[in-house]
Amino acid sequence: MNAVRYPKEVSLVEVGPRDGLQNESTPLQTDDKIALVEGLVEAGLRYIETGSFVNPRWIPQMADSSDVFHRIARAPSVTYAALTPNLKGFERAMAAGASEVAVFAAASESFSQRNINCSISESIERFRPVMDAADTAGIAVRGYVSCVLGCPYEGDIKPAAVLAVCQDLLALGCYEVSLGDTIGTGTPGSMDALLNTLVPALGAHKLALHCHNSYGQALANILIGLQHGITRIDSSVAGLGGCPYATGASGNVASEDVVYMLQGLGIETGVDLDALIAVGESVCKKLGRDSQSAVAKARGG
Ligand code: HMG
Ligand code: MG
Repeated sequence: MNAVRYPKEVSLVEVGPRDGLQNESTPLQTDDKIALVEGLVEAGLRYIETGSFVNPRWIPQMADSSDVFHRIARAPSVTYAALTPNLKGFERAMAAGASEVAVFAAASESFSQRNINCSISESIERFRPVMDAADTAGIAVRGYVSCVLGCPYEGDIKPAAVLAVCQDLLALGCYEVSLGDTIGTGTPGSMDALLNTLVPALGAHKLALHCHNSYGQALANILIGLQHGITRIDSSVAGLGGCPYATGASGNVASEDVVYMLQGLGIETGVDLDALIAVGESVCKKLGRDSQSAVAKARGG
């Protein structure tokens, strides 16, 4: 049997302050959000999805994103990113000083309607003015595709459907596409099948993984991604969150658990695991909830 090859370094995209907090029923105070972002940076994370500029009637938890962006103490080498569904969101993100933005599409028509109130093709048209404005402003744009391994409304999603949306986002000018297993139903088998379609067509360097951990498969799925050469992994401290338009979807894979696994594989992340666990404990205490990180729990958190 050939030895499996893993990348030497992996970049972590910390989505806790956005994806995590957008679905917490206890709202976190703005000051506590700021402390969270700053704590994550101190723990060594270099890319923080800090908030989103969506309709606050849809996602009230993110209504103070502008304040968060304005008031965080910025570290020079850190990307403070924002989710922006349309031009209005992009303009709000720029006014708040976001360093980068992300547009978000889905591989399922039903999820697209529920999440952003339009079809997949309409969403791509909505992103065009965002891409133009970002180009003019010199701002990089990340793309997301939700429901890549299953949809809460449509069930199985074909790899070809995911590929088509990824191609659209990359053709628009997104520098990479993050593959969202929104409801966490993917398995190493379905992830492998998806990546067998996507990686040869797009290249591993154009892809990131965004695994929710509802079925406890996220780390195994990420391991498959690493074996396919993917080196950008989204995760959320303490496994916070879920998705408001995907019932039953639990939080993202916990950042602590990803860092622990990567350390065990000898893969560099630049993150101090103990400091990260402390940040997770602190935010969980403020939210009045338990950490979803197995590593944090094993360490007594
Ligand atoms: P819409 O109702 O179709 O938009 O919503 P509209 O253009 O018709 O505007 C309606 C109202 O929204 C207007 O206000 C607009 O000004 C306002 P009114 O005139 O009624 O007072 N509006 C906005 N306000 C603030 N910021 C904006 C904005 N845009 C319009 N950017 C829209 C379309 C996309 C805005 C709406 O559906 C929305 O906000 N959706 C939020 C969806 C969301 O945040 N979902 C969670 C994030 S995605 C996710 O978690 C998945 C991911 O993690 C990957 C994965 O796990 O799969 C990324
Ligand atoms: Mg998500």
